[in-house]
Amino acid sequence: GTGLNALAKAAGKLYFGTATDNGELSDAAYTAILDNNKEFGQITPANSMKWDATEPTRGTFTFSGGDQIANLAKANGQLLRGHNCVWYNQLPSWVSNGQFTAADLTTVIQNHCSTLVSHYKGQVYSWDVVNEPFNDDGTWRQDVFYNVLGTTYPAIALKAARAADPNAKLYINDYNIEQSGAKATAMLNLVKQLIADGVPIDGVGFQCHFIVGEVPGTFQTVLEQFTALGLEVAITELDIRTTTPASQSALAQQQKDYQSVVQACMNVDGCVGITVWDFTDKYSWVPSTFSGQGAACPWDQNLVKKLAYNGIVAALTS
Ligand code: G3I
Repeated sequence: GTGLNALAKAAGKLYFGTATDNGELSDAAYTAILDNNKEFGQITPANSMKWDATEPTRGTFTFSGGDQIANLAKANGQLLRGHNCVWYNQLPSWVSNGQFTAADLTTVIQNHCSTLVSHYKGQVYSWDVVNEPFNDDGTWRQDVFYNVLGTTYPAIALKAARAADPNAKLYINDYNIEQSGAKATAMLNLVKQLIADGVPIDGVGFQCHFIVGEVPGTFQTVLEQFTALGLEVAITELDIRTTTPASQSALAQQQKDYQSVVQACMNVDGCVGITVWDFTDKYSWVPSTFSGQGAACPWDQNLVKKLAYNGIVAALTS
């Protein structure tokens, strides 16, 4: 059949998916595409399962936003990716500024991961249990988790998540690990250690927030280094930004770039699926973060497919 998810499944992948956000769900022209599980067989909430949204004050959980996305996935017959349990960003100040002992912060992480993952038990294909633990130079990010618990916090979160939903695939997710180098090596070393220690870990997510013309040439090699450890891998947040307004030549290069990224996943058996970080430029996170850049998604501002879409199709049918 046609549609990105239909093509991905025909090619042996589990899904082609997209991020979405609650505020977008009142846009009927948008949801007409989002809800079509021939295009998208998996969705990720861009914000509503994060710590600030789900446990804004200690011990008080709110799941209304996350539930809306989970219910949508169920209604549409789409897989759901939980995003995320432990991350330095969008962290309520009671956590980021808390004066915790190691024992206290361990309890905080266990309670957050356990309550969040339990709430969605049976509904989630995979969880980003730990998000973005490393700096770009491969050192550990000096966030509250690392500063109080050192390198032990991923294991605390992963064990709590496994106990809460034994059938969910548990991931660590990061960006700038798509090319060989210090950060990819740091991630490899972390997951090797977790496996050696018997800590539950099923996969590594490659965010793939790329720039037109700068897709790393070593991406497939890096994916294979992780699948060689027996882990699955996934492209979890793909978008490919450029200077706006985008030129025709940039959009043509973007088509090639989308094709090569998806082709790398196609070439690696353990790469289970691809998720774009929203499918339309109308709702992309890029322009608000990178001034003067955008046009990063496969559908444009008007919900019209771009050349990038054809690049994805070419890889999925290769
Ligand atoms: O909810 C508030 C709203 O009350 C307020 O009026 C408004 C004013 O700025 O801000 C709203 O919060 C925004 C939030 O998105 C929800 O829309 C934040 O400012 C904004 O910073 C936040 O951006 C999100 C970003 O993560 C934060 O780091 C993006 O939507 C989201 O797409 C992005 O996603 C991340 C992944 O989680 C991890 N990997 C990188 C990726 C892109 O940055």
